[in-house]
Amino acid sequence: MSTIPALDLHTPDWSLRFAESTRQNKGSAIRDLLSVIGSQTISFAGGLPAPEVFAVEEAAVAADDILATEGRSALQYGPTEGYRPLREALIAQWQARGVNIGIENILITSGAQQGLDLIGRIFLEPHDRVMVESPTYVGAMSAWFGCQPHYLTMPMDHDGLIVESVDDLTERHGSAKFAYSVVNFQNPTGVTLSHPRREALIETAHRLDMALIEDDPYRALRYTGHDIPGLIEIEGQMLGSEWNHRGRVIHLGTFSKTLMPGLRVGYAIAPAPVIRAMVIAKQGFDLHTSMLNQMIVERLITEKTIERNLPNLISLYHRRRDVMDAALNEHFAGRAEWAVPDGGLFLWVKLPEGMNTESLLPVALENQVAFVPGNGFFAVEKQPNTLRLNFSNQPEDRIKEGVRRLASILR
Ligand SMILES: Cc1ncc(COP(=O)(O)O)c(C=O)c1O
Repeated sequence: MSTIPALDLHTPDWSLRFAESTRQNKGSAIRDLLSVIGSQTISFAGGLPAPEVFAVEEAAVAADDILATEGRSALQYGPTEGYRPLREALIAQWQARGVNIGIENILITSGAQQGLDLIGRIFLEPHDRVMVESPTYVGAMSAWFGCQPHYLTMPMDHDGLIVESVDDLTERHGSAKFAYSVVNFQNPTGVTLSHPRREALIETAHRLDMALIEDDPYRALRYTGHDIPGLIEIEGQMLGSEWNHRGRVIHLGTFSKTLMPGLRVGYAIAPAPVIRAMVIAKQGFDLHTSMLNQMIVERLITEKTIERNLPNLISLYHRRRDVMDAALNEHFAGRAEWAVPDGGLFLWVKLPEGMNTESLLPVALENQVAFVPGNGFFAVEKQPNTLRLNFSNQPEDRIKEGVRRLASILR
C-alpha cells in the first residue's frame, strides 16, 4: 500500500512568500515586450555588439588548447578573486596607464553587471542616497533594486553630468553613499564626461567623502575625438602611492563590448578594502566567474587578439553610427533632436514635447522595428518623448530601413 499522502491541489500564493522588495519589483513591461521580438524585426533595442566581429575562431583555438593542456584546472572550482594570470594581465594594462594597483586591487566579475550588483550589496542599506545621472544605465537601477536606494539625480548636458549638482544635492538631501557615472559614451545618451569635469568630480567626491563608481564598458569604442583618462587614472595620478588608502574611485570594466558578451567576464578595480568586501559578497553569489572563460580571455589578451580586432570593430561601428545619423537626418530633420556620440553603441533621440515613445513602441513592433523608450532610464523625473537607438548590431541597409519605418510610424 502506498503511504504517499494526497497532493494539496490548491495553488500556492507565492507572492505572500516573496520578500517585500521582490513583491515591489514589477520588472519592465518594455523588457517583456522586447523579449518577444522576432528575427524579422529590425531591432535598435538591445545594446548588442555585432556578432560578425566576434573573435570566434581565435576563442575556439584558445578553448581547445586550454582544455587540452590545462583542462583540469579550467574545469575545477577557482578562486573568487579570479584567475591570477588574467588579474596580472589587467594590472599590467592599468599600470601602463599610470594607475599604481596591485593584485589586492582587482576582482574578476561575471560581467560589469555583477560588479554593479556587488556594489549594491556591500554599500547600500534601504533608503541610502545614491547619485545617478539623469538619465542613467537602467541595468544599474535593476542591480540595486533590492537595496531600495533613494536616488538623487545629476542633470547632464553635452559634457556629461553637471558636477555642481553633486554639492547642491548633498546640501538639500544629505550625503550620498556614492555617485555613479558611465563616463564614456554613456548608455543611454552617448554623452562623454569632459576632462575638466572628471577632475572637478574627483575633487568634489574627496571633499564630500563620497565614493565614485566609474562604469566604463565603452572607452575603447571611440570613433572620433580623443581618448580621455578615466576617473581612476586621474585619481591614481593625483594620489600616487596613497591611492590604496585615500582613493574614492571604484572602476568597473568588461570584455563584453570589445571581445564578446557571452563569456561574461568583467572586472572591478578599487582600493583593497572595497575589493575584499566585494570578494566576500561574490563568495555568496556565484563562488567565482567561470575559470574556462577567464582563461580564454587571458589568452586573447596576451596573444593580442583583442588589440588586433579592435580596429575592425571601431571602423564597423563608426560606419554604422554615420549611417544611422544620415538616415535620421534624411527622415527626422526638424522633427527630432539627437547628438552624434563620439563612440559607444547608442544614439539618444528627443521627439517633440508631448510625444510618448512608450505608446509608440507597440506600433513600431507591429511594423517590425524596435527601440527602447527613454522613460526607463530616468530614476526620478521621466522624459516620455525620448528614445534610445542602438546602431552597432544591425547591418547598414537594415539601419536605413529601420529608421525609415520609424519615421513613417511617427507621421
Ligand atoms: C553602462 C553599462 N554598464 C554595465 C553593462 C553590463 O555589461 P556586462 O556585459 O559586462 O555585464 C552594460 C551593458 O550594456 C552597460 O551599458
